Amino acid sequence: MRRSAVLEAVEGLVGSEELHKALKGVDIIGRIAVIKIPREWEGIRHEIGERILAKIGVDSVYMQTAPSRQGDRVRGLEWLAGKRSTETIYSEHGCKFLVDIGKVYFSPRLSNERRRVADLVVNGETVVNMFAGVGTFSIIIAKSKGARVFSIDNNPKAFELMIENVAMNRLNGRVIPILADAKEAASELDRSADRVLMPLPELAEAYLGEAVRMLSGKGWIHVYTHEMGGSKAEAMERAKTKILKSAEMFCETTRCEGKVVRSIGRRSYQVVLDMQVIPH
Ligand SMILES: C[S@@+](CC[C@H](N)C(=O)[O-])C[C@H]1O[C@@H](n2cnc3c(N)ncnc32)[C@H](O)[C@@H]1O
Repeated sequence: MRRSAVLEAVEGLVGSEELHKALKGVDIIGRIAVIKIPREWEGIRHEIGERILAKIGVDSVYMQTAPSRQGDRVRGLEWLAGKRSTETIYSEHGCKFLVDIGKVYFSPRLSNERRRVADLVVNGETVVNMFAGVGTFSIIIAKSKGARVFSIDNNPKAFELMIENVAMNRLNGRVIPILADAKEAASELDRSADRVLMPLPELAEAYLGEAVRMLSGKGWIHVYTHEMGGSKAEAMERAKTKILKSAEMFCETTRCEGKVVRSIGRRSYQVVLDMQVIPH
């Protein structure tokens, strides 16, 4: 609904052919709109920002200038209109999150995935989230299931926001924020979990051993990875082959189901594998 409002806002300023591109490139995060502007429109970017601000109920409009970078996964942003603040409150699945999209990774596009994983969690489980950001997966899981979640991130700003978010959602003691590299935290959390989340595709293979190490016995690992493929099915099969091969060294995999989370470029997909494993 708000996306179509964004399109209406820029109608007249740009040709209708480009409107389709605009539709793909809009994220509404709380009171902030983030848009991707094709190069040919950049000269009128502030006008586009002002139109969007006037048309939809946001406080600020930013343009994404670079995709999420390696490491902290923060996206490049340029202010276009409204308040010059990258902080906002975002609501999802009955939880509230303070985010700062200029300083930490955040994507509303993983909303369905966060719900899906939370639904798989069994009441009373201990979960480790190795790359937690501001605590989105962790908080949704703890709130919807009686789970305890160790929630790790190595970005101090993400950690600070995670602490606020745990308090805001009244989950003190149920979600435990940890500021550390996930490899280091793994030695403290050795054999403590029923389930481990790895929502950072770049480190899927490099940190798989640590994920297995944190399981107390037979348990689940949700591995996110990026894969090329001529179709979704091909990308998924390639992801399975790659990750199962890497896992052989650490565990026996008793179940492995995959799903394409989203398309991230031409012939390129984000894939999640739900793996039930027994550590060696
Ligand atoms: C893709 S984001 C996670 C998104 C989050 N799960 C969500 O749904 O909002 C990946 C996070 O991993 C963190 N990170 C990157 N390398 C890390 C490492 N070695 N150890 C722990 N956290 C790391 C980044 O700071 C970033 O917040």
